[in-house]
Amino acid sequence: MADDLITLVTTDHRELQRLFDMMKSDRSSRPLALPLAVAMLEAHSEAEEDRVYPAVAREAGEKAEAEHAAEEHHEAESLGKHLLEMDWESAEFDRALEQWIGAVEHHMEEEENDILPSLSQAVGPERLRELGLEFATRRSRKLVGMPLKAAGGTGSRSQQPATGETRAELYEKARELGVEGRSSMNKEELAEKVHEAEGS
Ligand SMILES: [Fe+2]
Repeated sequence: MADDLITLVTTDHRELQRLFDMMKSDRSSRPLALPLAVAMLEAHSEAEEDRVYPAVAREAGEKAEAEHAAEEHHEAESLGKHLLEMDWESAEFDRALEQWIGAVEHHMEEEENDILPSLSQAVGPERLRELGLEFATRRSRKLVGMPLKAAGGTGSRSQQPATGETRAELYEKARELGVEGRSSMNKEELAEKVHEAEGS
């Protein structure tokens, strides 16, 4: 499997779809599949809002689309959490499940048909790979509390800065420090801005 952003996001979408289909066709799978789908969607959405949508807004110039997509995430998250509070064998659950799945499917379609192709056109394959690793590491941090070890740090395409930190780690620090424009910075620029912000 390729590790560019488009492939990773689309693969995650297919996995969510698989859980949705399972819950629709087999009620007994719901107690296992529902928390998985809710947690996956939350980690997926946070990683996109944190790592992907800033690039969609700044690098692809699609600010309104990025904002709209983030709103859809929030709507889907609250529908998903509401399901966790319901009796999964009830008719009410069936209706709410259908509504949730419909909202998420609509969002995934927009992302795959409009947002990701715009980003893909605006940035090169190298940047898509970098964004893919940032997305995956942020998603991992949310899902299991740990980033991916390899993210942003291996291969000839990225140099380690003097601090030995990966771009993903520096990005995380920049985010915590509120460094503006961090999405479009390379590792060296991030290291410099983080250093400046920590010193101030
Ligand atoms: Fe999304």
